Amino acid sequence: MESTRKQLIDLLENEQGHISGQQLSEALNISRTAVWKHMNELKKDGYEIEAVRRKGYKIVSYPDKISGNTLQWGLDTAWIGQQLYHYDQVESTQDIVHQMAKQGKPHGTVVIADEQVKGKGRMAREWHSPQGKGIWMSILLRPPLPPVQAPQITLLTATVLAEMVAAESTLDPQIKWPNDILVNHKKVSGILTEMQAEQDRIQYIVLGIGMNVNQDAVDLPPAIAHKASSLKEESGMEWNIQRTIQSILRTFETTYDQFIDKGFEQVKAKWEHYGYRIGERVTISTMRDTWEATLIGIESDGALRAKRDYGKVEKLYSAEIHWGEGGYDA
Ligand code: BTN
Repeated sequence: MESTRKQLIDLLENEQGHISGQQLSEALNISRTAVWKHMNELKKDGYEIEAVRRKGYKIVSYPDKISGNTLQWGLDTAWIGQQLYHYDQVESTQDIVHQMAKQGKPHGTVVIADEQVKGKGRMAREWHSPQGKGIWMSILLRPPLPPVQAPQITLLTATVLAEMVAAESTLDPQIKWPNDILVNHKKVSGILTEMQAEQDRIQYIVLGIGMNVNQDAVDLPPAIAHKASSLKEESGMEWNIQRTIQSILRTFETTYDQFIDKGFEQVKAKWEHYGYRIGERVTISTMRDTWEATLIGIESDGALRAKRDYGKVEKLYSAEIHWGEGGYDA
């Protein structure tokens, strides 16, 4: 959203000290009264703005409360989140985006909720999405790709989430095949990709991202507390959810554009860089047998590559993997 308001925030953010009303009115090509009115609107939205005579304005602190507007104002993206909807409480952001897709909403539409009361996980599991503690977000994508390539978008998303965590903290995130984000062997984030497709063309994808951000250990459901965690629990710091969402969306847009332009190779390399237990031995059970193998990476169709001790490389699409000592067994 390239609105005057967003430009105003950019100007304030880019200035080390104060910026005068005169400078703002010239840069934005609006009157000083209009600048003043915008400042009041920002204050109403929770921005704390210091106004000093003869020096001008400065942002002192940002709103805690997420809103569609505050999310968009700090978001300098070309297509993702140009339509962004924020709700206090929903059943599931996935369902809302499915409806929006059917109504013809554009590629890059984003729906975010503070709380989901029927959050959906993979394999019909429930996804616990408590109020204000995490990122519960679904993105509408209309990729110009055949349905067989849809898993690549999920793998790509996992790399984006891992990169964000690595960039914003000293944590060492890993991606457990196919697409759980782990920190210290515990799951902090998951991805749910739902697709509507014809035989040779994806109509749309609803990409659901769930990330446990500011839960304390007591906030996690007891049944999963041994294998799930939050960024706060692992890093010891409270995260700014709004900035974290913006960072994910920005990185997602760049990575997605690169992928559409140049293909899957870079995503694959990044995935393997963060891949959990890649290069290590694990035990694998399929319908027919149980064997030990070394995980060596992923295929471009999303399969996991595992090398048997006698050298044969197997492609795994669905297998039970025993992730090993101290590891995460889903
Ligand atoms: C998983 O099982 O690992 C995937 C979890 C995906 C959860 C997200 S939260 C936002 C979106 N809305 C949902 O109901 N689910 C996804």
